Amino acid sequence: MSGLNDLHEGPGVLTEAAHRAESAPRRRLFIQSFGCQMNVYDAQRMADLLAPEGYAETSQAEDADVIVLNTCHIRERAAEKIFSELGKLRAVKSERAASGRDTKIVVAGCVAQAEGGEIFRRQKAVDAVVGPQSYHRLPELLRRAETERGLVETEFPAQDKFDFLVPPTPEQVRKRGVSAFVTVQEGCDKFCSFCVVPYTRGAESSRPVAEIVAEVKTLVSAGVREVTLLGQNVNAYHGANGAGGAASLAELCARIAATPGLARIRYTTSHPNDMSADLIAAHRDEAALMPFLHLPVQAGSDRILAAMNRKHKSADYVALVAEIRAARPDIALSSDFIVGFPGETEADFEATLDLVERVGFASAFSFKYSPRLGTPGSDLENQVEESVKSTRLSRLQALLEAQRQAFNHALVGSVVEVLFEKPGRHPGQIAGKTPYMQAVHAEGSADLIGETCPVEIVAAGSNSLFGRVAPSRAAREVPI
Ligand code: SAH
Ligand code: SF4
Ligand code: F3S
Repeated sequence: MSGLNDLHEGPGVLTEAAHRAESAPRRRLFIQSFGCQMNVYDAQRMADLLAPEGYAETSQAEDADVIVLNTCHIRERAAEKIFSELGKLRAVKSERAASGRDTKIVVAGCVAQAEGGEIFRRQKAVDAVVGPQSYHRLPELLRRAETERGLVETEFPAQDKFDFLVPPTPEQVRKRGVSAFVTVQEGCDKFCSFCVVPYTRGAESSRPVAEIVAEVKTLVSAGVREVTLLGQNVNAYHGANGAGGAASLAELCARIAATPGLARIRYTTSHPNDMSADLIAAHRDEAALMPFLHLPVQAGSDRILAAMNRKHKSADYVALVAEIRAARPDIALSSDFIVGFPGETEADFEATLDLVERVGFASAFSFKYSPRLGTPGSDLENQVEESVKSTRLSRLQALLEAQRQAFNHALVGSVVEVLFEKPGRHPGQIAGKTPYMQAVHAEGSADLIGETCPVEIVAAGSNSLFGRVAPSRAAREVPI
């Protein structure tokens, strides 16, 4: 691994960045992310952008000169949580001020985009607001925040933020672990009637293939073994292929799979209507593409699916899953569900349970419908009562949980490839993931971290599996 890292540490942009970091005063940065994986990726890119400006990350808000909350607006509770966090940070800011230390508080992410300058009215301790398409302006924004108040950057600029981002250093990549996120597509044109994403992330756009391939190479050369390609509608990916055309997600996966040292590719989140034939075939043909697919369906009733503007029927989803399973029989599925969308009757809800029974999911996320201002769903009459939503959610979650446990227990006794990611909870243990995203703990030497090994699953707990590393690998010591 170290040989590959050396390649990365040659002259070029990193050296220049390191030089700038050395000459700038050392400041501390605390970034907290809420919401989806894309926010995690964005937070990393913000840290990468600020590193050459002399900011080192800290895990304690109390130690930070700059605090960034990277926020989520998807449900009311997610958005409200930000304001209670901000209340706590205001106290941190005044305590630091009492000992003569200045603190800048920045609100980034989807609440920033949705609420803009409103945020200052609700919390005066905030210094700047920056949306998901403008965070490349963070260094400049922080410089301006030294003298100006109430700064807001929520434009969808004509020029892509990716043109301004800087690559992480190999140290940063190593600190983040062997599995990395890479945004390949952003925004959404689907306008499901419950969803704020098209408003907070803007119109769909895809990054060019060459840019993504280069980013993956940088990550892999610093030790990454698995990449998860991210997009709000990742399977609608159609990035410039460098030959005047557009590449599909399947073509992008094939290009990325050619990166020496990369073991696994995943992608999320997919829309059922964009599961193209070539992507389904890639699940059959591309060994690096993991047999796990997050394919949100939201509901099982055709009436509700139509009201949600999902543009497919329940039977279409079931048929699609059958097609995917024919291509890749061991594929495991996960999904998202919303209960209590306006007008949902008991019969509609039972159609959701029925779909879950028919498909069978390895895992899933399920939510009570949360009306979001500005989305068509929030204007609908027949909003479902909170208590009804709660009962339905419990019933759905009981079924999904039973399926998840059954899926986990069915693996006991079999041998699966595990990518080890980190030390385990106990000394002498290591932890990793199966191809199906289950956490596995096993006895094993730390030098297996970053490797995929056959592991015999010996037991299933409620949230993770316990395994035995195949003897030939477990006995492996550090090579002489
Ligand atoms: N792009 C993805 C989903 C992004 S949001 C897709 O198309 O499926 C993640 C999940 O949050 C959604 O799948 C949905 O289940 C849930 N969600 C979105 N808006 C919601 C709302 N208003 N109330 C409750 N759940 C919501
Ligand atoms: Fe939201 Fe629908 Fe777009 Fe997914 S496809 S991000 S649920 S509008
Ligand atoms: Fe939340 Fe924005 Fe992601 S609303 S789910 S952080 S795209």
